[in-house]
Amino acid sequence: MLISSKREDASEHRLSQRAGVASTLDMAPISEEAWIEVIQKMDAVYADLVHHQVELERKNAALEDAQQFIGGVLGAMTDVLIVCDRAGQIERVNAALERLTGKSEADMIGLPLAILFAQESRPVIERLAGKLNDSPPIADHEVALLDETGHATPLAMNCSARYDHRGNVQGFVLIGRPVGELRRAYESLNIAHSELRQAQRQLVVSEKMAAMGRLVAGVAHELNNPISFVFGNMHALKRYGERLTQYLQAIDEGGSPEELQVLRTRLKIDRVLADITPLVEGTLEGAERVSEIVQDLRRFSSTQSEAADTFDLARVVRTAVSWVVKAARTKPTVVFDMPETLDVVGRKGPVHQIIVNLVQNAVDVMADIEEPRLDISAHVKDGIAAVVVRDHGPGIAKDATARIFEPFFTTKKIGEGTGLGLYVSYGLAEELGGKLEAANHPDAGAVFTLRLSVKEAGHEG
Ligand SMILES: Nc1ncnc2c1ncn2[C@@H]1O[C@H](COP(=O)(O)OP(=O)(O)OP(=O)(O)O)[C@@H](O)[C@H]1O
Ligand SMILES: [Mg+2]
Repeated sequence: MLISSKREDASEHRLSQRAGVASTLDMAPISEEAWIEVIQKMDAVYADLVHHQVELERKNAALEDAQQFIGGVLGAMTDVLIVCDRAGQIERVNAALERLTGKSEADMIGLPLAILFAQESRPVIERLAGKLNDSPPIADHEVALLDETGHATPLAMNCSARYDHRGNVQGFVLIGRPVGELRRAYESLNIAHSELRQAQRQLVVSEKMAAMGRLVAGVAHELNNPISFVFGNMHALKRYGERLTQYLQAIDEGGSPEELQVLRTRLKIDRVLADITPLVEGTLEGAERVSEIVQDLRRFSSTQSEAADTFDLARVVRTAVSWVVKAARTKPTVVFDMPETLDVVGRKGPVHQIIVNLVQNAVDVMADIEEPRLDISAHVKDGIAAVVVRDHGPGIAKDATARIFEPFFTTKKIGEGTGLGLYVSYGLAEELGGKLEAANHPDAGAVFTLRLSVKEAGHEG
């Protein structure tokens, strides 16, 4: 519209010019061709002008578009953006900074950048202007920006130098990501994680306590043996004491050597004297066994993690097996294939717990079979201890194979199993740096293998 109206104005102007020229023809006669040439030149100049005008308006529109685009991008940024000159004075900021600081861009332009930051971050910010040749002057550096209430808000700040078209440094651009939100999210994730770990530890403890409940009968059995042994010995010692007292009394009363000899033979004093030492030793051994069982029980029920120490893996396996088997309704025949002692360095509590769980499962699946049998082997080779528990039950059901290590997976009746035994055992094996594997034996029954990397005692270091 503008262009066409201008064109009309110009035509009128030319016509009036032509009229003017005609009126002066008599004074200075100019040829028709000359006039035409002048008019053509004027038309060309005018067309040029129009072209420039159109071009200018197109560039203006493009510039406006670009400015709107940049403004839109800056406004949409959630990160904070600050543009500074070489001296570190603010030239431009985005809406995110305005929101965070509660100040308008107009208020901030011309201020020294450091003013926006908390005291502890100012030295770093003030040094930026002098570090513009480093690439980048700072990267992911945490600084504290003052928010609208004057509180420090952590920002992960990146800074890069800004150049003009000749490549000269004009200033710098800072981009900061508020990390408060991120940090809060991270902290709540951390809390959730530690609560989960706590819940898992609780699960391990509950599982252990449930196992303890089942083991009580077996442990009582185990204790019964040495205790009855100690009792028997003590009764014998009591009788022996009575005989010795009787004999000593006869000596005190001044009995003749013949009488004393008869008494000595009747009271079997020589046998008593010979028996005392083995009886005392036997009693001590029984008491020690009781104390060991109590210690094993305490270790088993303890919720504290013990330190690695030398222990006899063969003894741990035997104790675990006997606790479970003694408590079982149907007692399987147990066939051991392992050395008398197998000293290794590690944590015996979790190993004991795993074996109790494996043997308990084996005993459970064989509860109704005719000749229950348990094959237990333990060996150490090349720093790996392998304990294998094989039963002669029905084997692991096909559809259960993939799920037996899942928490709460059980095929037992309600109240008979929680489905935590293998899950907890698997976790314990991993914690020990080992592995628990399950398979079915080609002949029959399930085979569980616990592999642990252990140092053989005496070979460590
Ligand atoms: N020796 C085995 N033979 C066949 N199946 C087994 C054997 N051991 C475990 N399973 C299967 O794996 C399931 C999970 O065993 P897990 O020990 O985790 O739980 P559970 O014995 O059912 O319950 P609990 O928490 O009391 O141990 C069992 O219910 C059973 O189906
Ligand atoms: Mg179980």
